[in-house]
Amino acid sequence: MASSQTLITLFIFSLVSFCYAASGPFKPPKLKAVHFTIRKNQTTLQYYTTFESGNSQTPNIIDALIDLGAPSVWFDCTTYVSSSYKRASCGSNRCKKAKGLSCIGCNSTPRPGCSNNTCGVFVYNPVRDYSSIQELGEDTMQVYSTDGRFVLLTYDVPKFQFACADSAAVERLPGDHTKGLVGLSRTEISLPSQVSSHLKLAKKFAVCLPSSSENGFGDIFIGGGPYYMPPRPEDQSLSLVTTPLLVNPAGTAQIQSDGDLSNQYFINVKNIEISGKRVAFSPSLLSFDKNGVGGTKISTTVPYTILHASIYKRLVKDFVKEAALNNIKRVKSVAPFGACFDSKTAPNTITGPAVPNIDLVLEGSTVRMRLYGANSMVMAKKNVICLAFIDGGARPTTSIVLGGHQLENYILEFDLTASTLGLSSSLLVWNTSCSHSRIF
Ligand SMILES: *[C@@H]1O[C@H](CO)[C@@H](O)[C@H](O)[C@H]1NC(C)=O
Ligand SMILES: *[C@@H]1O[C@H](CO)[C@@H](O)[C@H](O)[C@H]1NC(C)=O
Ligand SMILES: *[C@@H]1O[C@H](CO)[C@@H](O)[C@H](O)[C@H]1NC(C)=O
Repeated sequence: MASSQTLITLFIFSLVSFCYAASGPFKPPKLKAVHFTIRKNQTTLQYYTTFESGNSQTPNIIDALIDLGAPSVWFDCTTYVSSSYKRASCGSNRCKKAKGLSCIGCNSTPRPGCSNNTCGVFVYNPVRDYSSIQELGEDTMQVYSTDGRFVLLTYDVPKFQFACADSAAVERLPGDHTKGLVGLSRTEISLPSQVSSHLKLAKKFAVCLPSSSENGFGDIFIGGGPYYMPPRPEDQSLSLVTTPLLVNPAGTAQIQSDGDLSNQYFINVKNIEISGKRVAFSPSLLSFDKNGVGGTKISTTVPYTILHASIYKRLVKDFVKEAALNNIKRVKSVAPFGACFDSKTAPNTITGPAVPNIDLVLEGSTVRMRLYGANSMVMAKKNVICLAFIDGGARPTTSIVLGGHQLENYILEFDLTASTLGLSSSLLVWNTSCSHSRIF
């Protein structure tokens, strides 16, 4: 992975020098959006990005887990080398902005991540379920601009804030080279917020999660469209439907292990339909109670959508019934899935196995997210496809946690000014996907 990243970097450098040579005094076009790639690890079913931090000649290249619901950016600093790195001191404004919790010290050799009288910030590793206080630092991040089709030029984001963590904080983060985590939530110190505010971009970002990164990478666009998904020529940002992003009233003050719910992204799923027929369950599960329990959250770290038990049971039952009407043969279930089928009885189409559609009916006139077979089913073993939803038990905090498998190959645009989610149809319908090469 590191080598292809280096290749991209080299290529861009040569491209920039070529532009200089060809056109004399070089005036870069106005920066409108920046791009980060997304890779998927097929073992852990997690999504990763790569960013560059530190001196622009010899940047630290960091692979980090993407977490839509996490508040900040942090990574293992034990091998971090940069002359432009600065720690934040206790009580500084930067420390307050990042919600610094305490003053920390270190009694080893000074280096990034080891200093005295330093602002300590909260870091949570979701895999280890491990919280710690780590040094708040800042450095220059290098980002790539985009026109929605290609990555173009590098820009510096000065004073990018992150937690400069010890190796215990990153332990067991899935993936081979993963050294940290990139949070995309609604806080001021998330990746999109910091990049937008330093580079004066629109306060919106989009993600396009790939189902595989073998033949191309997925996208994070910060700053807005256009979004081109070749070979389809149209700008996909023009055909998004929108639904409000809801703010969960819970947890505004306290630290919750998985981050503050009120900074995460919730939408209003009004009901669920299978082949146009409504799945019957209590509608109260789909709204928040006064403690913020209930509702529908979007998550990139949950591999398969997790449903409240009473939604799950009805969904499985109704889906099995619809599948039978379509002569799709049920077979023995493969854990953790509750309904599996003989894949030979659901032939493949461009949108995956031909199974009944599942629609999430969203707030807004005629807004729905239609899940075709590629997003509703998973190949659990040879010739066996399963309904790719998980039973979340009878008392989950959130009734529906939409997970990665259901979000792949859609464009999800989070507009933080308008507080809306823009949603494309499945890109598979257009015979395209979220896996692209965006190098010239
Ligand atoms: C922090 O202060 C202690 C006590 O003065 C000292 O022993 C230690 O070396 C200092 N740590 C760093 C990283 O400078
Ligand atoms: C995916 O993650 C697993 C588990 O952490 C790791 O063993 C594997 O090498 C990773 N694959 C890639 C391509 O990074
Ligand atoms: C979809 O694209 C592939 C190549 O990417 C092509 O082989 C195939 O014929 C296309 N299918 C349709 C239905 O357009």
